[in-house]
Amino acid sequence: MTMVTINGRQVQVEEGATLLDAARTAGVHIPTLCHHPCLPAHATCRMCLVEVAGAPDPQPACRTPAQEGAVVDTDTEALQAFRRTDAAWLLARHPDDCLRCEIDGACQLQTLVRENQWRDLWPKLPAGEPGSPEDDFTDHTSPGIWRDLAKCIECGLCADVCGEAVQQQFIIGFAGRGGDRRPVTVFEAPLGETGCISCGQCTLVCPVGALIEAPHWHEVLHTLDGRRRASVVQVAPATRIAISEEFGLRPGTVSTGRMINALRQLGFDHVFDTNFAADLTIMEEGTELLARLRAGAGLPLFTSCCPGWVNWVEINRPDLLPHLSTTKSPQQMHGAIAKRSVFARALGPDFAAGRAEPYVVSVMPCTAKKDEALRPGLSGDVDHVLTTRELARMIRSRGIAFGALSEEGRFDSPLGESTGAAQIFGASGGVMEAMVRTAAHLAGVEESLPLEWEALRGVRNGIKTATLPGIGMVAVCNGIAAAQRLLEGEGWREDFVAIEVMACVGGCLGGGGEPKSMDPQILQKRAAAIYAVDAKAPRRRSYENRDVQALYASELGAPNSPAAHHLLHTHYAGRGSRRALLMRFLDCVDRRDGAAAANLFEPGGIWSTAAEFGDIQGADAIAAFIDNTLPPRRYGAAFKRHQMASAARTEDLTVLTPDGGRCRFELALVAGAGGDAPRARIAHLTRTVL
Ligand code: SF4
Ligand code: SF4
Ligand code: SF4
Ligand code: FES
Repeated sequence: MTMVTINGRQVQVEEGATLLDAARTAGVHIPTLCHHPCLPAHATCRMCLVEVAGAPDPQPACRTPAQEGAVVDTDTEALQAFRRTDAAWLLARHPDDCLRCEIDGACQLQTLVRENQWRDLWPKLPAGEPGSPEDDFTDHTSPGIWRDLAKCIECGLCADVCGEAVQQQFIIGFAGRGGDRRPVTVFEAPLGETGCISCGQCTLVCPVGALIEAPHWHEVLHTLDGRRRASVVQVAPATRIAISEEFGLRPGTVSTGRMINALRQLGFDHVFDTNFAADLTIMEEGTELLARLRAGAGLPLFTSCCPGWVNWVEINRPDLLPHLSTTKSPQQMHGAIAKRSVFARALGPDFAAGRAEPYVVSVMPCTAKKDEALRPGLSGDVDHVLTTRELARMIRSRGIAFGALSEEGRFDSPLGESTGAAQIFGASGGVMEAMVRTAAHLAGVEESLPLEWEALRGVRNGIKTATLPGIGMVAVCNGIAAAQRLLEGEGWREDFVAIEVMACVGGCLGGGGEPKSMDPQILQKRAAAIYAVDAKAPRRRSYENRDVQALYASELGAPNSPAAHHLLHTHYAGRGSRRALLMRFLDCVDRRDGAAAANLFEPGGIWSTAAEFGDIQGADAIAAFIDNTLPPRRYGAAFKRHQMASAARTEDLTVLTPDGGRCRFELALVAGAGGDAPRARIAHLTRTVL
């Protein structure tokens, strides 16, 4: 132990502790901006400078080791004057945008200004006014992440978390010097045109509003306020635990009931559990695994419920796409079931006749789920995705006293029942453990296998493995960097039958949409809560879910049946490939979005329809044809999509049409004018009926 004196108080701290740790042990508050307990300390903001007896200059407390006998002052007049000057420099280029800022009330710079009442330092001109300190680099090109670099305080945490320290994606780095220093992407490309996988880890560590999730809660609140549409909300397992932290409850507190009651107060008509669909995912994915094992093809099977991981494969390793499970993620399954199953048809005559569908919102710990909901073949099944942080903003906005709500509260039926297996989806290793529980049952080896798989648990270990008698060896990659490591060699092809990858360390309970936390043990606390819910659950295997059994009996037949495939499975394509462009086009056609479809063509592009409509020439004519000539879009169960004929042959452009026919497409492309980064556009799309 090391003895240190902080502002006259003696404290003992562990070897290796910093002066910041020592001050916190002594109960002394030192302001910080660029410090995060889980990331390296670069000491860029200098807000935490302290005076150490005998040292010639003030030292950054966040990076200075506590030395035996050190005598430290944290609040001298000189230090306070320095912090004021430091803040003046930061605020001189910060827009006066707090009232509209998404993280108003949760911004560390704002907290600092408020605590110190530095009124005279605050710029008077709001963002948008001539002369206001505004950066023109506002980047809303990513469907999951927004950047507003005018608010950046250059702490460097985003570059750390996206780079070497955690995710190893290196999408964000630092460029420039002095006042021009800022986090940039390679060639300053808009985020949506980089290899960003939308994991949102950068939004989790940004201390201000420079990196945030693309916000949708305002639209959700306004839609609910109007009470014009039947509304449905589904909530992911990791949200019901972490949301407690937003309202000052102890980390690891399970708030399922409070959250359900808050969602009802916000105006949702039906409050459902994403875990219902997680059980359904397991039924489909477990069956898919056994089918691949029997066929000896497509192994190892990669899980596909993490859109950050799916993005990574599509961007970086399209050769792996045939290994991805075609089973939709729980979010998308739930959306499809809520909009297009017996539940939706029972909402009224318009719903049964295909003229209406419910408004579906999901609450996720994840920013990548926002772009998953826009994927071709999935889009429209979930209308809006909110992060856990956004749900907290909605609740605060309506003045709901979350902590005072009753913890008695149940999800609605029939899409609300779930098992313990679904609950553990929220933790790294949970999807695999849940799949093993059901696959063991389906393979007839359940009796010989344990229910709990400790080897697959843990929020800090990178790659976890277990051997399942009767099934084979499985692996869990905790975080995208672990997956990259596993895939560096070729051994994984032979060693494993199934591999779970979750892009965020810890799994979804460490997701980019979860509450920001400075607690280094936060993942362990959230995980302990998740496993406790599973341990107490009356049913702990997905096949035991009675609502899922009823859905198969009434509508889907059996797992992996044609009906199940139509509603619950999807396809993938390499980013920028012809198949990706075709899937996007067909998605626009299915949703009758002529403008978006036309945007995929060059202005003089041609669509040869191989139907009575002949060749349609020009992007405007294509838009008008989709909007005005095709029969109007149907909704609910009557909404049918085009589907790619093959999941395994990812270059194949054969398509199953909504009316059950088959056709093949060819695409001639030209480089389009998409700013500095040219994007391919369709010059000629040719359809051949098979
Ligand atoms: S979302 Fe993830 S991959 Fe994208 S910039 Fe942020 S940390 Fe990097
Ligand atoms: S964008 Fe946020 S996390 Fe990145 S350097 Fe700026 S303030 Fe820090
Ligand atoms: S691990 Fe979970 S939170 Fe993170 S990107 Fe994947 S699905 Fe989203
Ligand atoms: S918090 Fe120590 S230098 Fe920024």
